[in-house]
Order: sequence, then structure tokens, then C-alpha cells
Amino acid sequence: MLPPDTALWNFVEAAVRDVFRAYNFQEIRTPIFEATELFARGVGEETDIVSKEMFTWEDGAKAADYAVYKRWITTRFPGVSAFQQIDPDTAESQSPVPTMSVQLDGKWNFIVFVYRLTAQAVLELKIASEQLDNNKYEFRLVTADPLPDSFRFLVGEVAVITERVSLDISSQLLTLRPENTAGVVRAYIQNKLWDRGLNKLYYIGPQFRRERPQKGRYRQFYQIGAEVIGPPASGSESPARDAEVLEMLATLLDRLGITDWNLELNSVGSSQERVKFNEALRVALAPLKDKMCADCQRRAVTNPLRVLDCKVPEDQPIIEKLPRITDFLEEESRKHFDAVQDILTKTGVRFTLNPRLVRGLDYYTRTAFEFTHGALGAQNAILGGGRYDGLSEALGGPAAPGIGFAIGEDRLVMSLQEKTPAESVLRKPDVYIAPMAGMNADAAKLARELRRHDLVVELGDDSFRKLKKSFEAAEKAGAKYILIVGENEVKSDAFALKNLATGEQISVPRAELAQKIQD
Ligand code: HAM
Repeated sequence: MLPPDTALWNFVEAAVRDVFRAYNFQEIRTPIFEATELFARGVGEETDIVSKEMFTWEDGAKAADYAVYKRWITTRFPGVSAFQQIDPDTAESQSPVPTMSVQLDGKWNFIVFVYRLTAQAVLELKIASEQLDNNKYEFRLVTADPLPDSFRFLVGEVAVITERVSLDISSQLLTLRPENTAGVVRAYIQNKLWDRGLNKLYYIGPQFRRERPQKGRYRQFYQIGAEVIGPPASGSESPARDAEVLEMLATLLDRLGITDWNLELNSVGSSQERVKFNEALRVALAPLKDKMCADCQRRAVTNPLRVLDCKVPEDQPIIEKLPRITDFLEEESRKHFDAVQDILTKTGVRFTLNPRLVRGLDYYTRTAFEFTHGALGAQNAILGGGRYDGLSEALGGPAAPGIGFAIGEDRLVMSLQEKTPAESVLRKPDVYIAPMAGMNADAAKLARELRRHDLVVELGDDSFRKLKKSFEAAEKAGAKYILIVGENEVKSDAFALKNLATGEQISVPRAELAQKIQD
């Protein structure tokens, strides 16, 4: 992403932050990667995101996992009689890598654990061997890597026994976040955010999904999202929250000048209602699934709701005739959904009911929605969201109903581009300062003064011997004025200021320069 496009992104983000502020949302920043398990449990194993789109890797260096090291030691040395762990995070430790002292047959073993062999780890041993009595201690390096010759030289005189052992048991699976709701709910649980009552949080940042890239669909994309979450007593379950979030989105899109949006709304029911619906789908799909695509055949058994996400054209006539979630809503859910619609109608937010809308993530309950935009073609969902009343509990937290959404920022910018070209929001230099020979310092002083007046100043340098070159640079930068800094100007404290559009040139006293340029 390059300028001037980045100016449009900044324009969008500034508008978004303004709108979020008016609705009293505050920013949360979550990690770019988290434990794979969080997304598997949060988003759902059977979703496309988790089953095929996550960027996941195995990270071996789970630092200082002493339980694992201890288990390894007791298996490897059954005669071990005492342990002493030296934690790299504690103040008394001199060691930046996890080490353990182990008493074995009356002799202490000093053990350094490293998943990947580094010079640092080897040096650690060397330092320890110099400080400790070699007759009482034996030194071991436990690593999954073989010891290369270069390291042999490093450890040369030290009695080190290197052992090539697999530390796989200490590895963990990590994933680049494919979405941010799971991360926000994890943060809610970890930081006991229920103490704050109702949390209204927003985020802007990159997400990652291994999808086939095409217009509007990328493997690294950006989301602008928000979540409203809190204990039930904070009102987090109220339909007023759903309606407020939707009304905020309508306001935001309108404010950005994207007026031809369509809000598609549905209720996917409570988790109990979903169980019944899923069962009805399973029954309905049993005689039909063999005619469907391979993914649907599997989903029809494992998670029938996901069949409704299928985009394969041949499967659509079958999907059209399947039971509808709306027929499975019980009174409470129906009332909740009616209340959301009622507030939307009263506040003047237009919407279309779409009983097929189930969204591609498993955590949704009750209200689910998408905003689409005609200009986007096949990838027409500009944003999506909904309620996730059971997510906190699924991740091991207390009851914390919530609702949120995420806007695809790439798509939002794309819809904007036609009406608002990036050039139109880019702030060009107000003035280009052209120093004559030997005048760089005076020009810098002047630039400093003018920038304090919130002017955009491009500062040239005196290496352009001819003024013509400075004029060319000023025009290329799109500056409104060029300001010439020569010896005479500095002496008289008045500077030649030329309007590049009109060609008018006047001499302006230093004290009046900022005002003149601003006019
Ligand atoms: P989602 O529908 O998976 O929901 O994504 C939200 C939006 O992100 C989509 O509507 C789309 O605009 C954008 N998006 C998704 N994948 C891509 C991609 N590969 N390239 C470009 N844009 C993409 C969620 O992520 C939920 N966490 C939303 C939410 C928040 N629900 C409750 N709270």
C-alpha cells in the first residue's frame, strides 16, 4: 500500500474513530497471533476459516516450560533426586535461557534447554562452567538441533554433553488471527473486564486468511471492528444494543458517502434453537446430501448449518428448499428480534430480512447481519457481524452476551474510491521553501516557524544551483507557493513568495508569512 492510497485509508480511519467516539467506543489492541486453540474453539472447527484458511505454525520455543523439562528429565534420568529451576524471567537469574540444576547420583547437572541451538545458549553454559566447580558439576545442553562444528569450537574446553532430543512436547500451535472477536473475548476473560460493566470496544488492524486472492479478497486484509460485551446485568443482551450498533454502522457509511448500502438482517436463534434447527437440517439433508458437493456431504453430518454457506451453484436449489431458522425461533428470540427491528424502523435505518443469512462463523446467536454494496461485485459483503451470547462461556469465561461487527477496510476503501479519489483527500504542501546557495540553515529555521502554524512545508536544499530546478520540484510536489530564501531576503527579513497557480509574486515580511500562505 503506497501513497496517495494510504491517504484514503487514513481518511477512513479518522472518520471511523470520530464516529466511534460519538457512540462512546474505546480502542482495544489485541495480539496479531494467538494460540490456535482460541480460534478453533471460538470460530468453530467446521468453519471454512478454521478448517482451511488459517495461517498456523508450530512454535517450538515455548519458553521456560519447566513442567515439560521436568518430565523429560525424570524420563531420561530416573535416578534424579533434586531439582532447582533457574527462570530466565526472574531477577536473580543471570541466564536469558531456561536452565535447570538437577542432582543425579550425588552430582549436580547444570542443564540448558534450547529448542533451536544458538550461540547465546552455548555461551550460557560456558559462563556457568567458569563460575561453577567443574568437579562437582556436569553440563548438559538439551536441544533438538545437532551441534554444528562452529559451536563445537565455542564449547571446546568445557565438559559439555550435548544431547539431541526432541522437545516437541514443549511446542505449541500458533495462528495469525483470522478475525478479532475471539481475541477480544479472550482479553475480556483474561482481564476480568466484567468489572467495568458494559464494554464498548473497537479495533482497526490486519487479519489473515488463506483464501484464493481476487478483487476484494486478500490473504492479509484489514478489519475495522467493534464489540459490545459485558455481564447480562450490564444490559449487554438488550435488543437496544443490537439496534445501536446497526444504527452506528448506517451513520458511518452515510458519513463516508457510501449511501447505496443494503443491510441484510436475520436471527439465527439461541444455541438451543440452533441445536434443533441443525437436527432438522441433518434430517432434511440425509436423503439429499449425495447430490451435493463434497464439502456439503461432510458438513451435512458434522455441522449441517454450514451447508447454508455453500456457494456451489448446483447446490443452491437443494439449499433453497431446506428448513428455515426463522421457523425454529421460540418466543424469547422472536421478541428480541422484533424489538431490534422496531428500533431500527423508528430510527429510520432501512433493512431487508434474509432468513438464509447464517454467517460463516459458529459463535453467532440471534441477531446476524451483513451490509452489502453493489459496487463490490462477487465479494459484496462490506461488513458482517452479529450476536455471540455464548462465546465467552465456550472460551472458559463467565456469561457475557455480546454483539459486534467487522468491516472489511479494503472493501470499504474500494467502494469509496470512485467518488473520493485518494488525491482528493491528500494534503499537498502549502509551501515549498527553496534555499539559495549557502542558505540551508536559514531555510530550515523558516520551515520550523511555518510548520508550527500547522502548514505543510516541503523544504528543498541549496544543491539545486538553478532556481528553475526548485520550481520544478515545487510543482511536482503539488505545492501552492514557493518561497525563496536568499541572502537579501534574510537581511531584509522579507521573502519572495510566489503563487504557483497564478504566477503572482510578492515580498512578504517574515511575521506575515504564515498568515499570507494560509489565506
Ligand atoms: P467476517 O464476515 O468473517 O466476520 O468478516 C467481516 C468482513 O471482513 C467481511 O464482511 C469482509 O468485508 C471482510 N473480509 C473477510 N475476509 C476477507 C478477505 N479475505 N479479504 C478482504 N476482506 C475480507 C468476522 O470476521 C467477525 N469477527 C465479525 C464480527 C465481529 N462478528 C461479531 N463481532
